[in-house]
Amino acid sequence: MHVVTPGGAALGPASPFGAEAALRAAGAVRERAGVDAAVEIAIVLGSGLGALADAIEEAEHIPFSGIPGFPDAGVVGHAGAMIIGRLEGMRVAALAGRFHIYEGHDPKLTALPVRVMHALGARTLIVSNAAGAVRRGLAPGDLMLIDDHINLMWRTPLAGPPEPGEERFPDMSGPYDGELRAIARDVARDAGIPLAEGTYCAVLGPSYETAAEIRMLGRLGADAVGMSTVPETLVARALGMRVLGISCITNLACGLTPSPISHAEVLEVTGRVGERLQRLVRGTLGRID
Ligand code: HPA
Repeated sequence: MHVVTPGGAALGPASPFGAEAALRAAGAVRERAGVDAAVEIAIVLGSGLGALADAIEEAEHIPFSGIPGFPDAGVVGHAGAMIIGRLEGMRVAALAGRFHIYEGHDPKLTALPVRVMHALGARTLIVSNAAGAVRRGLAPGDLMLIDDHINLMWRTPLAGPPEPGEERFPDMSGPYDGELRAIARDVARDAGIPLAEGTYCAVLGPSYETAAEIRMLGRLGADAVGMSTVPETLVARALGMRVLGISCITNLACGLTPSPISHAEVLEVTGRVGERLQRLVRGTLGRID
């Protein structure tokens, strides 16, 4: 299939990870899950944050290997499945495991699951990640509401022929929905969950940053740093979805502590904080209409 402009000019072959692929994958998911009802909320669970998926009721687990166009998710801490079911009365599709650009994937693949969940009906995306603290005052175990992002991946899943139904030049003045953030803040306050707020900077990885890079990121306005989330947010915004982003701070970034950063430490902290993230997300779902 070629992408054509409304005037009929061919723009090149459709991406194997674009809108057409998403419709095909969504069809397969619907068939496997045996549900026709539209999904309302899409959820992406970061490294070690998959426990939320266990709370989903009437859950249908669809391994990535059963979804056309999805390779198996490869990183430790990522189970690699889409879970369709109900959470706090909402119909949800949750992604346990995600694709990262540092794995060598096409940037478009990193956002394909968002396109699929949108094709299943989701108009709201809740995206979580593990992140290092750049701003002093943030500590391992903190949850941080993402109020904005800086894309230093130097990649975007939106490059290439325009996808049908997506904004070609999406506005980025407020990628993280103000109303959803207000709800999350209220939930956190009522539940006694400490909740920081700040700007997430996405880098390509997979190496962690140097101390000099972290000094630079701090001067650029980053509060936390990680290797995901921004591709998903960009596509969600191009599709007109509302986005709520939450970082789980797993470590002090390089240079802010003498100890080296390890993936094992990241997973250990997300495992510990997962329960609080779960309460925050479930409480927020309970107040979304
Ligand atoms: N840097 C980049 N990505 C991360 C970090 C970090 O310090 N911690 C968890 N993900």
